[in-house]
Amino acid sequence: MCGIIGIASNKSVSMNIINSLKKLEYRGYDSAGLATLNNNEINEKKCSGRVEQLEKILFKTSAEGNLGIGHVRWATHGVPNTINAHPHSTEIVSVVHNGIIENSNDLKKQLELKGLKFKSQTDTEVITLLLTNELKTHQPFDAVHKTLKQLKGSFALGIIFKNFKDIIIGARRGSPLAVGYSKDENYLGSDSYALKTMTNKISYLDDGDICVLTKDNVSFYDVKKNKINKEVFILSDDKNVSDKGDYKNFMSKEIFEQPITAKNCIHEYVDKIRDDINFYNFPIKPQSINKIVLVGCGTAYHSCLVAKYWFEAFTSLNVETDIASEFRYRNVRFNKNNLYLFVSQSGETADTAAALDLCKKNGIKTCSIVNVVESSIARNSDWVLPIHAGPEIGVASTKAFIGQMLVIYMLCLKIADLRGDMKKKDYQKKISNIKKLPELLERCLKVEDKIQLIAKDFLDSKGSMFLGRGSSFPIALEGALKLKELSYLHAEGYPAGEMKHGPLALIENGLPVIVIAPHDKYFHKTVSNMQEVIARGGKILLITDSNENIVNENIRFKIDLPLVEESLSPFLFTIPLQLLAYHVALLKKCDIDKPRNLAKSVTVE
Ligand code: G6P
Repeated sequence: MCGIIGIASNKSVSMNIINSLKKLEYRGYDSAGLATLNNNEINEKKCSGRVEQLEKILFKTSAEGNLGIGHVRWATHGVPNTINAHPHSTEIVSVVHNGIIENSNDLKKQLELKGLKFKSQTDTEVITLLLTNELKTHQPFDAVHKTLKQLKGSFALGIIFKNFKDIIIGARRGSPLAVGYSKDENYLGSDSYALKTMTNKISYLDDGDICVLTKDNVSFYDVKKNKINKEVFILSDDKNVSDKGDYKNFMSKEIFEQPITAKNCIHEYVDKIRDDINFYNFPIKPQSINKIVLVGCGTAYHSCLVAKYWFEAFTSLNVETDIASEFRYRNVRFNKNNLYLFVSQSGETADTAAALDLCKKNGIKTCSIVNVVESSIARNSDWVLPIHAGPEIGVASTKAFIGQMLVIYMLCLKIADLRGDMKKKDYQKKISNIKKLPELLERCLKVEDKIQLIAKDFLDSKGSMFLGRGSSFPIALEGALKLKELSYLHAEGYPAGEMKHGPLALIENGLPVIVIAPHDKYFHKTVSNMQEVIARGGKILLITDSNENIVNENIRFKIDLPLVEESLSPFLFTIPLQLLAYHVALLKKCDIDKPRNLAKSVTVE
């Protein structure tokens, strides 16, 4: 998703802009660019492709200037090419934009009637030309204010102006924007992470805010141009964030970090002395909760699906789960006694953020489960439960999934306890089992060697199926999603019991079918479904923690995991599936950390 940087300094900024754009690469992008102000002239450089290419252009042609804006673009309006890359500049103004201008076609027609000419196919260029027009009669701040009033849709903007060598103007509606402070330098960024190498002092723009940055000062204004103050947050220090260490890529690092991140998360929430879970300040009294509603996208949605099984098993509550892009447009019947939980690694996903906003507009208290605590979703929620996984760089989510499930699992137990749905001794037994989870995850990671061999068998397959029942069904969905994302192989996740209703027709000789079969109440049923697949030629990879001897020479591969209590199996069974997707992608020489067409943080609809 697009990312923005702005730097006002007393020294040359272009290399710092490049370095910050590299920090935004995790969002996924297809072109990059920057503009500096040098001798009061706008100096624009851009290209399709990677930030490295932009860097090469700079080495050849240089872009001097103590003030500048930069951008990585994820194409929405117009193909990814150099002309459509940001910044979009005229002689007097240069703009970088994240978001979508919904009335760009109407505005374009009006501007063309005034004789203004468009170079690109983007919606952003409308902003540049509106500003160019307003700057004929107004100073920069008023020109921006007047332009913003004409825009419909979402935006975060960074703008520089010819002849105004001191200022960058930023503005936000919908898309997130942060400001960073340092000595003799101030910054604009799509998120705090991009600014982290330069500063740990951050403020966040709210919807409608405009900011004016110089190297020594930042002023904030609300939508009515009133000057406002902003809280300054000091960010925590994430050591080794951008360091892969001995790992080939961030994804493998993040997979192998999971025992540690799970341990950190447990440390944050579990009171080891009292064998209790510390969740305070519930937005609704647990005893008065009517229903649990969980909303998310992608992997985060899968953690919501797992949660449904836990809440139904441990509490007397009804549970509803929804994909955020569906939830936001349904005629949802809001109820103040429902607990609405929004799950998001980045905390910036546009659909999840919009679903949360919808709740707020309907007077509903919201809770978010996020990794990035400085994110928009976290800041807009009444109650934030961080997953404490540390920055996740690989686009395909791994340690955040385990973290999301862990926080939801603990929340579910706490609610069950406070409502009296679970016996105290069962509650405490489950807490002592949670404490064993990091060590169990560690043991699961040991299956890597075996998975590496199995991965070879996937290379020539046309597709694959992942089957599970109960809470293993969402784990099957997540396993299939990981394989799709990373290796570009077609994969389907299905409830094993649903196979006879259509998907069985897909089974043919040699089709890989991954069967997720913990030794739970569904075990024998899942094994029967597996036999039906074997009878039709499916090539089985069975993942189980059962000691039962399932004799069938047609099981091609078997992965054995440590036996755990039923409710913990989603954590353990996730690991081999992550490793499988990873090793298939590695053999296929795919771009593991940045799979094609995908973005880490999807900040447009
Ligand atoms: C993108 C990412 C996925 C992620 C989803 C939701 O599609 O590529 O890995 O699961 O967004 O992101 P969130 O940050 O809200 O968890």
